[in-house]
Amino acid sequence: MQILGIETSCDETGIAVYDDKQGLLSHTLYSQVKLHADYGGVVPELASRDHVRKIIPLIREALKKANLEFGDLDGIAYTKGPGLIGAVLVGACVGRSLAFSLGIPAVGVHHMEGHLLAPMLEETPPEFPFVALLVSGGHSMLVDVKGIGQYEVLGESVDDAAGEAFDKTAKLMGLDYPGGPRLAKLAAKGEPDQYKFPRPMTDRPGLNFSFSGLKTFAANTIAAEPDDEQTRANIARAFEEAVVDTLMIKCKRALKQTNRKRLVIAGGVSANIRLRADLTEMMQNLGGEVFYPRSEFCTDNGAMIAYAGMQRLKAGQNEELAVKGQPRWPLDTLERV
Ligand code: KG4
Ligand code: ZN
Repeated sequence: MQILGIETSCDETGIAVYDDKQGLLSHTLYSQVKLHADYGGVVPELASRDHVRKIIPLIREALKKANLEFGDLDGIAYTKGPGLIGAVLVGACVGRSLAFSLGIPAVGVHHMEGHLLAPMLEETPPEFPFVALLVSGGHSMLVDVKGIGQYEVLGESVDDAAGEAFDKTAKLMGLDYPGGPRLAKLAAKGEPDQYKFPRPMTDRPGLNFSFSGLKTFAANTIAAEPDDEQTRANIARAFEEAVVDTLMIKCKRALKQTNRKRLVIAGGVSANIRLRADLTEMMQNLGGEVFYPRSEFCTDNGAMIAYAGMQRLKAGQNEELAVKGQPRWPLDTLERV
């Protein structure tokens, strides 16, 4: 069974072909970073228009790399939400109508389910059940995962997502969009223990997050300190440590609450080296295991959508012909597979 995966929910056009026996056959990605850089963030209408330009050439390229033709496909999976609605609809329209024209089923995939299952593309995938920490530009959540489509959201951000906090703080430091990875690079040059940022919402029970206060704390620190490269690196490091520590404390709490021994981290922020290293050490100390996707599959990509879609298509799901996109879509309302 060969599935085409289409991801267009934000500023990346990601396409992949996944085979249920051979695994990932090919994937292509076009990032719109340069297009949005002048504006300091994603401009939704520009994003939609660029997906329109890139989607068909990328699909052809992915099929060519996989040595397949359109007629060889058995199903199509596309991101149906959550995301920028115009951008989502580009992938949904192309995916749903292409499947109709080929006479094959289509399935609309939840973007965060795609992230959550991305570690399944790796050589040693996690077994169910596990706790997942999903940290992207739009979402931060802890989920108890019993199986595909069996998701209990244990906690989520009450304001900014972790990636959003990275991006906004990076902007305050004068770093270009996308700020998260740039701030992380700067933090690597920072000296330890120069500043102490708060660990929000860790002094009370519960698994929700709040990151907007860290951004304000960063703004005040930047304003009060000299504007040289080493100082900025020290502030970046203190900020990154605060986010990572906060996430770690909540992960530990979620594992204890659910009695799980496996932790999955996914979404753009899971590419962060400090987060990976600290969580790996924590899981070793707890006698458990941590799983994360390779870096390129932490951020948005077509492979994770093809994989998630494959599981749903195999279970017989087929999207109706009306093309729908969902800008908001609670993860725990998905159908169990
Ligand atoms: O999953 P993703 O590609 O898109 C969404 O679904 O939102 O995540 C993008 C987010 C951005 O906020 C970006 O700054 C952040 O992930 N990010 C990072 C790193 N790489 C990407 N944040 C911290 N450290 C990184 N290395
Ligand atoms: Zn994403």
